[in-house]
Amino acid sequence: MSYERQNIRSMDGYSSGEQPLDDKVIKLNTNENPYPPAPGVQEVISGFDGSKLRRYPPPTADEFRNLAAKIHGVNKNQIIATRGGDELLRLLLTTFVDPLDPIGTTSPTYSLYPVLAQIQNCPVVEVELEDDWSLPTDFATRMNAAGVKLTLIVNPHAPTGKLFSKAQVRDLAETLDSVLLIDEAYIDFVDPDLNHDCLSMINEFDNLVFLRTLSKGYSLAGLRFGYGIGAESLITPMLEKTRDSYNLDLLSQKVAVAGIADQAYAADTWQKTRAERKHLTNALKNLGFSVLPSQTNFLLITPPPDIGLSALQIQHKLKQNDILVRYFSTSRLIERIRITIGTAQENSQLIEALRSINA
Ligand SMILES: Cc1ncc(COP(=O)(O)O)c(C=O)c1O
Repeated sequence: MSYERQNIRSMDGYSSGEQPLDDKVIKLNTNENPYPPAPGVQEVISGFDGSKLRRYPPPTADEFRNLAAKIHGVNKNQIIATRGGDELLRLLLTTFVDPLDPIGTTSPTYSLYPVLAQIQNCPVVEVELEDDWSLPTDFATRMNAAGVKLTLIVNPHAPTGKLFSKAQVRDLAETLDSVLLIDEAYIDFVDPDLNHDCLSMINEFDNLVFLRTLSKGYSLAGLRFGYGIGAESLITPMLEKTRDSYNLDLLSQKVAVAGIADQAYAADTWQKTRAERKHLTNALKNLGFSVLPSQTNFLLITPPPDIGLSALQIQHKLKQNDILVRYFSTSRLIERIRITIGTAQENSQLIEALRSINA
């Protein structure tokens, strides 16, 4: 006898990247930041008074929201703090999408979206990206025709690393009938020369929310802290009605504040990652791999045909060398590997390992 709802019984859960306990493993499989968080983070943890846990935490994480609002030049009421970006995604579904109503996204996309849709019992309308991984020009009209209630776009895109332009984001917000979530999990790694800042659009569109996370840009994946920035009419129902009553514990609120307070430190890790992105791209190309241009902290690569090994086999060989990278078995990704950009040393060890596999 199973007590699960039918849709839960028939679904698979989210498949997380491997999390080894062994420090000697070079971990390039889950797009974490290879540098430690800001020094202020450790100070907060070391100085934390455990007796403070006797009380419930501030329910809406106002200290964090005030600081994030200041950093981004928005109003505090346009921000909700969540347990990772993932909690924001779940809140968007439960707040704005009825069971059986469709959500929409691209294919490929962040693999958690269809899992959350299955939990809410919502079909997913997927539109294939073009051959060059750009967004089809009729994307929004297809979403509208399918009656989609929530459209989810990763930008810069995962797992390709491609950045959709500001004009495209504006056009989507303007054209879509649905709520639009622009998932900016990797936005911090975008080249600043591109001047890609879309946040002020939340004052123009009442259907637009941006996802941000401390997991990547702020080296705090283990903390589980993210936030949404959007039109107040979208943020308020999540903040006041659908959020868990105390969704963020006191310690993580304090740590998150310390994490984002030191913008200069975080920006330095972004800059180092961009420099390494360039080096790693060149080194991989020299080995014959094709590498998609990326505005994120990862690269999607295809092995050269003459290597005589499939992408999956290369992933296994790297694992034997204690290097973890991510492989997806879905159709357009089956011959590709996604590699997180590590430190200079980790990246050269990766290149060395690939060279020896190739030899
Ligand atoms: C595209 C994308 N969005 C959102 C997230 C959520 O991140 P977190 O829940 O760690 O904040 C991730 C994490 O890998 C991601 O890749």
